Amino acid sequence: MDPSKIASSSPNHHVKGLEGVIALNSSICYIDGRKGTLVYRGYSIEDLAANSTYEDVAYLLWHGHLPSEEERLQLGPLRDVPQPVLCILGQLPADFDPMAALRTGISLLSHYDPEANEATPEANYRKALRLTAQIPVLTAALVRHRHGKPPVAPESTGNTAENFLYMLTGEEPGIRAAQALDAALVLHSEHGLNASTFAARVIGATLSDMYSAITGAVSALKGALHGGANTRVMRMLLKLHQSGENPADFVRRKLAQKERIMGFGHRVYKTLDPRADVLQKMLRELGQERNEMYWVELCSALSRVMEEEKGINANVDFYSAPIYHLLGIEPDFYTTLFVMGRITGWTAHLLEQWEDNRLIRPRAAYTGPLGRKTQSPTN
Ligand code: COA
Repeated sequence: MDPSKIASSSPNHHVKGLEGVIALNSSICYIDGRKGTLVYRGYSIEDLAANSTYEDVAYLLWHGHLPSEEERLQLGPLRDVPQPVLCILGQLPADFDPMAALRTGISLLSHYDPEANEATPEANYRKALRLTAQIPVLTAALVRHRHGKPPVAPESTGNTAENFLYMLTGEEPGIRAAQALDAALVLHSEHGLNASTFAARVIGATLSDMYSAITGAVSALKGALHGGANTRVMRMLLKLHQSGENPADFVRRKLAQKERIMGFGHRVYKTLDPRADVLQKMLRELGQERNEMYWVELCSALSRVMEEEKGINANVDFYSAPIYHLLGIEPDFYTTLFVMGRITGWTAHLLEQWEDNRLIRPRAAYTGPLGRKTQSPTN
């Protein structure tokens, strides 16, 4: 290409991947990657994980304050998923991709929601509630479908974590298991303007509907660079378990081959991911209760060597993976559990976007040619 024909008037500088670019104002989440701080609406994540349920945190993200006793969310009565949605999901081939199937399920829900295209703040809030109540029902039904089993109907009582674990087996879960899942959901609820949240806001800002924005967010989270790491962490841990290789040898071998160890490092946190810290404690408590300390010890050993060799800390995926494993959930479904948590953050961002909407429409620095003609000048 003739360089003189390349557009010269375009400002060619841009920030690749929009890294560090401030795209909008938001009062939902504060992150300080250097200090390892994560705050939802002014409350530290450590405080919320220790003292609030996932439902209380959902309320906090949507309304900006923790609920009073009367304001506490009652998601139980909203859990009924229309039967045709479950029937269609039940016809997916047994080797379905869980995230693609959940994306389909959410899209199907919109066809049975009479308010799907109603854009008032009240209707949008009701949709946020229904999606938060029904996504765990879809997820549990998909886990069971993978094994050729029919869905277990949700209970109208109990919190999201208890009810989800109940729907997996039809048996009431132990208290510690439900607490661990509840904390994992709290820790996955929100994380600023990450790729899936940004995708949701971009779609919402066109004044498309909440279901469309959420299926777009699920599609973004499905990517290997975003939500897929926890599945790969557990596959790595299971492989190590099967091979019996010494964890330190494993890490050094992988690093020598210039490979990445799943569950370590973070684009934003340059110190310990605060979510990993909370989950590490949860994993230990769950392991102690079940007398199954193998995964705790394996994770500690890997984490020690990574610290020594690279000075890199574990992230949220490193500890959520073995927790889900101890809860009896298979690795393929871990990213759908991420959706179960993050639906509250995504919908909070959409409600905030619609309060003061403006179309999100950046520009690209043009690097192609100009001045071309379809007819040759010699004619
Ligand atoms: N294993 C081994 N080395 C790693 C690593 C990992 N998980 N994460 C980062 N590094 C190393 C890089 O090789 C590089 O080393 P070098 O300077 O010696 O070449 C250095 O750390 C900086 O890497 P960089 O890619 O610039 O960091 P980043 O901030 O862009 O990467 C991630 C962030 C999350 C993409 C990266 O840490 C990663 O791939 N982690 C594994 C996947 C994962 O767990 N993702 C979930 C994130 S919540």
